[in-house]
Amino acid sequence: MGVPKPSFFLGHLPYFRENPLGFLEACIEDGADLVPLRFLNRRVLLVNDPQQIETILTSQSKNFRKTIGYRTPFMRRLFGQGLLTSEGPLWTQQRRLAQPAFHRERIASYADIIVRFAKDMLTTWQSGQQRDVHDDVMKLTTRVVVKTLFNAEVPPAIAQLGDASEAVLTEFTRQYGIWRFIRGLLPGSGSGRFEQVLQEIDQFIYGLIRERRQNGENAGDLLSMLLSARDETGQGMNDQQLRDELVTLMVAGLDTTALAVSWSLFLLAKNPGEQTKLIDEIRQTVGSRPPAFADLPQLRYTDAILKESMRLFPPAWIIGREALSETQIGPHRLRKGDSAIMSQWLKHRDPRHFPDAMTFRPSRWLDGSTSTLPKFAYFPFGGGPRVCIGSNFATMEGTLVLATIFQAFEFECEPGYDVQPWPSITLQARGGIHLRLKKSSDLG
Ligand code: HEM
Repeated sequence: MGVPKPSFFLGHLPYFRENPLGFLEACIEDGADLVPLRFLNRRVLLVNDPQQIETILTSQSKNFRKTIGYRTPFMRRLFGQGLLTSEGPLWTQQRRLAQPAFHRERIASYADIIVRFAKDMLTTWQSGQQRDVHDDVMKLTTRVVVKTLFNAEVPPAIAQLGDASEAVLTEFTRQYGIWRFIRGLLPGSGSGRFEQVLQEIDQFIYGLIRERRQNGENAGDLLSMLLSARDETGQGMNDQQLRDELVTLMVAGLDTTALAVSWSLFLLAKNPGEQTKLIDEIRQTVGSRPPAFADLPQLRYTDAILKESMRLFPPAWIIGREALSETQIGPHRLRKGDSAIMSQWLKHRDPRHFPDAMTFRPSRWLDGSTSTLPKFAYFPFGGGPRVCIGSNFATMEGTLVLATIFQAFEFECEPGYDVQPWPSITLQARGGIHLRLKKSSDLG
């Protein structure tokens, strides 16, 4: 099919909106790695060449800022000026302040909490049950992020996060409605449910800030770290900036990690042979005691499963940048204001980099065949200065959660069961992931 013909007024936007993954796939069908597109009056270059992705995200990163997609009223309302969306000196300063919370020693101290909460989740599971495991894992990662970063429990108001996140994701998709887009993504038109969810989140976060400011306690978590941070003039962060950072970390951290785990469960249920290998590894390395941070180097197959799951179903499926000044990308000259989009969905399924690309084969991460990959053939966490701050945290959490789950359970699905990816802010599983649980010990 190739790149569809742009409409006079809207360009390629309707195709992208209608079926983003199918559209991206069609764009590179004839082998092009740089595909010029137009969304309304914006020139957009689809960049599918790993070397050029590296140029944009790393060596020329100073020539770019994030695309308009990060500056819509929806994104501003949700993330404000947090790490994901801020730019320039504010971003540099905030990244420096938040970084220590993600250092190795610090995240090591989160391991026990992760395993404890994962075990709590398993107490609600019974052999033979069919469950939406994505919903369960979302609740787990929410609990983990709220506890590790803010030393708090998830309040009842946002405990039903499955529901809340549905509202956020739906609102995200709505903002790309053609008329909204044309009206310049006007503020103030968010749905009532979205606004209600946001108010509940804000109430919770501002409550935490108020409480911590009052009691002056240093809980050794990210919240305390950000509260005590001072810039060169001795000034601390105001409540709004703190709120933006905390909401950003919470939202960016829980949905992505949950997806990495739940897509893994789906792929394992579809591939029982891989599931058996995983259980063997866990039995041999951890046995029946709770998994710990020190086990991570031995959990190599578990780690390979996460990597392979994020290859086929990357939680972050697209990254966008906007040129701040003229930049040459191969034969294409990006002018100021032009955008570049780079898609993990496309690159991770590229047979030039991954032989047998559509097959779930975790061993490719252990047999040396991926060691010669170009750097940006696989980039689930982005790259360059704006690389994901939580990548080590997420990998640790995902590995420990999988190890804890497979000590007790394995998964089955109906023959032919499939789940459609739904590319929202992150790559969701449309309708959830419904699997049948089976106690590992029942396997005989
Ligand atoms: C499997 C899990 C995760 C995936 C796949 C993922 C993916 C990404 C990607 C691709 C980016 C770069 C976006 C861009 O360049 O435009 C990013 C940025 C970010 N991620 Fe993650 N992420 C994950 C987990 C986490 C966790 C656990 C946290 C925090 C607790 C987190 C917090 C952030 C933040 C704050 C940024 C913005 C960083 C900056 O611009 O300085 N992420 N993530």
